[in-house]
Order: sequence, then C-alpha cells, then structure tokens
Amino acid sequence: MPRHRLIAILAGVAAVLLAGVLVFRAGVFDAAPPPAAVGGPFQLIDQNGRPTTEQALKGQWNAVFFGFTYCPDVCPGTLQALAVASDQLGPKAKDLKIVFISVDPARDTPAQLKSYLSADYLPKTTLGLTGTTEQVAAAAKAYRVYYKQVGEGPGYSVDHSTAIYLVDPKGRFDRVIAYNLPPEEIARQIKDAMAGR
Ligand code: NI
Repeated sequence: MPRHRLIAILAGVAAVLLAGVLVFRAGVFDAAPPPAAVGGPFQLIDQNGRPTTEQALKGQWNAVFFGFTYCPDVCPGTLQALAVASDQLGPKAKDLKIVFISVDPARDTPAQLKSYLSADYLPKTTLGLTGTTEQVAAAAKAYRVYYKQVGEGPGYSVDHSTAIYLVDPKGRFDRVIAYNLPPEEIARQIKDAMAGR
C-alpha cells in the first residue's frame, strides 16, 4: 500500500477515535436530566450585590447557564451566541433574560460579574449571580451542573457543564439547549418553547 494512503487511513482512524472521546465527554458534561429534577430554589447574590433567589426567574423566559468570567472560550462563546439569538427573537427579546451563574465564587465577585456582563453586546437585562462557595454549590446541584477546579494558583481554571437551561416564566425548567449550537438554532428552540412547542 502506498505510504500516503496508509497515513490517510491512520489519520481517519485517529479522527474517529477522537470523535468518540469528544462524544463521551459531551455526554458526561451535558446529559439532559429529567425535567422535574432540574432547577429549584437558590440563594445567590447578583452583580449589584443584591440577594437574589429563584423568584428572579419568574415573569419572563430565562436562558440559564453556569460558568466563570475567566473562562477562555466556552462562556464567552455561549454568551455571544445567546446575545445574537436574543436579537433574533425580535420583539420577543424582551421576554428573555440571560442568566449567568458563576461556578467560581472565589474570583467572581459581584463587581467582577458586573464588569464582565456590562459588555455592549449583551442585553442590559442580563443577570449575573454568584455567592458563597456553599450557595453556588447548592445552585449547581439543583441544576445538576458539574464543575471542578483545575490547576492551582491564581491562574486556575474550572471545568464546567456547558448546557443552557431554558426556564419558563413560572420558574420551571423547560428544556436543555445544547452547547455550541448556532445562534439561529438557539433562537429557534427558544421560539418553540415560547410558543409552547
Ligand atoms: Ni466557561
């Protein structure tokens, strides 16, 4: 067999194996739990320092996701996609609140969240939440969110679940929106939810 052909085959095998690993990882991080088991009460602090509970989710649809402001890729990418999706809702954009819950309370103070979420591209209604280590752990547990500190020292990272949780205006979990979908698809799924589909 010609050598370049062998290399192509080996590369193909490696790609399939890598895809398998990625699917496995995605499954571990994003498995959709049964609806009734997701969400519930929490006590956190918003980016203005105000104590905030699950009551803040009532009165509008909410795209809730967990992350941290020092996140290099997943969180900024998700926020940008949600901002574009929100724009694509047109007049219904006002019926959606983006809710970012920190899994890094040691670094994500309310002030840090406020600075992070005041980016021009984000809707002004975007809600940032943090709290004590225990408060954040309880909120993450309620949403079946995984997170884990990786590395030591000031530059540590945090592995975390990447799914977006859509919560209805009564504060009830509606559905999971998978990570890394195009904004058009995110908008479509939110429109579906708003229309009761
Ligand atoms: Ni992140």
